[in-house]
Amino acid sequence: MDKQIKINFEAIENYSHLNDIEKTLFDKAMEIREIAYAPYSDFTVGCAILLENGDIITGSNQENAAYPSGLCAERTTIFYTGANFPEIKIKKLFVIGAPRKATTSVPIPPCGACRQSILEYEAKQKEEIEIYFASLDGEIYKTKSIRELLPFSFDASFL
Ligand code: THU
Repeated sequence: MDKQIKINFEAIENYSHLNDIEKTLFDKAMEIREIAYAPYSDFTVGCAILLENGDIITGSNQENAAYPSGLCAERTTIFYTGANFPEIKIKKLFVIGAPRKATTSVPIPPCGACRQSILEYEAKQKEEIEIYFASLDGEIYKTKSIRELLPFSFDASFL
């Protein structure tokens, strides 16, 4: 029998349609993206995480001459958050990535490994994390949970 899974996301037209906190997250992700360490791909990614206490944690992709040793912006940021603020819940994760010199882009979603890592923290805190992935100059996609981006997800409930 054929079955389908439907995923839900919101397409926000552009920056001007974001609310104030979302604009701040966009701005902070853009700002940290400027200093991403991406000498090999020149594809720079910024991430901003909003905590339940209102604090914002930012991070960027960190590459390595031994390519697989590098890390995406989302995991750099969420691992730092998990390491430093293990008891504080994460409300939103905002990511923006594009080639360094680009002025236009499409929304770039978190890679598979980042989705799995984000899911771990969502499951741990028993509360959904809203995910935003933005283009530089146009649409911003939003999901209410990382599970929308990771159907048939594997988590600790199977262990
Ligand atoms: N990258 C991220 O930071 N996040 C993603 O979700 C996709 C890819 C980084 C990894 C690498 O430094 C560069 O983008 C090109 O793949």
